Amino acid sequence: MRLSWFGGSDALMIDPSAIPQPQDDEVLVRVAAASINPVDYKTREGKFPAVQEDDLPIILGRDLAGTIEAVGTRAHYMLSKGEPVFALIGADRGAQSDYVIVKAVELVAAPRSIDLIQAAAVPLAAITAWQGLFDHGGLTAGQRVLIHGGAGGVGHMAVQLAKAMGATVFATCSTDDLDFVRELGADRAIDYKAERFEDVATDMDVVFDLIGGETQDRSWATLREGGIMVSTLQEPDAGKAAEHKARSAPRYMAQPNAVQLGEVADLIDAGKVRVVVSATYPLDQVREGYERLEQGHVRGKIVLTLT
Ligand SMILES: NC(=O)c1ccc[n+]([C@@H]2O[C@H](COP(=O)([O-])OP(=O)(O)OC[C@H]3O[C@@H](n4cnc5c(N)ncnc54)[C@H](OP(=O)(O)O)[C@@H]3O)[C@@H](O)[C@H]2O)c1
Repeated sequence: MRLSWFGGSDALMIDPSAIPQPQDDEVLVRVAAASINPVDYKTREGKFPAVQEDDLPIILGRDLAGTIEAVGTRAHYMLSKGEPVFALIGADRGAQSDYVIVKAVELVAAPRSIDLIQAAAVPLAAITAWQGLFDHGGLTAGQRVLIHGGAGGVGHMAVQLAKAMGATVFATCSTDDLDFVRELGADRAIDYKAERFEDVATDMDVVFDLIGGETQDRSWATLREGGIMVSTLQEPDAGKAAEHKARSAPRYMAQPNAVQLGEVADLIDAGKVRVVVSATYPLDQVREGYERLEQGHVRGKIVLTLT
C-alpha cells in the first residue's frame, strides 16, 4: 500500500512490488495483519514532520503480525519459518504490505492466546503506552495516573498497563466509552465532555497526555508537587511545569523495543491485558479503514488484514 503523494485517502494506492530479501540480522515476515495508527493518516496528509515530500514514495504502517518467511544469515539462530511473530518496526520501513523486512531485534513471538489480527493491533499502541508511563513517566505501583484518551488505541493499553503495574488509574473518554474504560480497569472513568477532569483527578503522580492543547494545559493543575507530565503529542511547557512545581518529560516518539513487547505478550497470555479491535478491513479497503480511524470515536484499534 504505497503513498506517492500527500493527500486524502485517495492518495493510498495498492501497488505491486518485488518481495524484499532479508540481509544479515533481518527477517522477512509474511504479514497477516497491520494496524492503522493516527501517525499513518498524519503522514499521508504531509503533517508528520519526519516524512517530507522528498521521502515519497513510501509504504505506511508501523506495526504488524505475521509469520516468518525467511531469515538473514545472522538472524537464523532463533527464528524458524512459519513462526508467528509481531513487531513495531522502525520508521524507515512500512508495515502495510504483504511482505515486510523486520529487524530481528524488533520482533518477538506473537502472544499464543490471541490471533494475528488482534496481535497486529498491539505493538505501537502498547509500546507507546509502556514507554510513556514507565520509561518517561516513571510510574510505579501505588502511584496515581491520569490518562487522557483512555478508550483509544494507546489509551486502552495504557489503562491496563498502569493497572497491571498497581497504579490508581483515572482516565478521560467520551460518554459512550465510560463503561468500556471501567471494564479495562480504570478506577475512575471521566466523561471529558460532561465533567471537568481537574475537579475529579487530583494529586496525580503522572499525567499521560494523548490529546494535547487545552487538555494538556488544564492538566497541570491535577499534578501533585513533583508530579510529571508526559505527552505523545505536544512538548510539555517547562515554564508551566515550574509554575506548578511539577516536572515535564520531553515529548517522545515510541521506539521499537522487543523486550518490552515480549513483556506485553506475557501480560496478554496471562489474561492481564487484552487488545480491542473494533474493526478490520482487507487491504483493498484500506481507504475505508483510514477514514474510519480519522472519524474518531474508535474504541481500541482498526486493523488491516493482508492474507
Ligand atoms: N509520539 C508517539 O510515539 C505516538 C505514538 C502513538 C500515538 N501518538 C499520538 O497519540 C495520540 C493518540 O493516539 P491513539 O492511537 O490512541 O489515537 P486514537 O486511537 O485515535 O484515540 C484517541 C482517543 O482520544 C479520545 N479523545 C478525543 N478527544 C479527547 C479529549 N479532549 N479528551 C479525552 N479523550 C479524547 C478519542 O475518543 P472520541 O473520538 O470518542 O472523543 C479516542 O478514544 C494521537 O494523536 C497519535 O498521533 C504518538
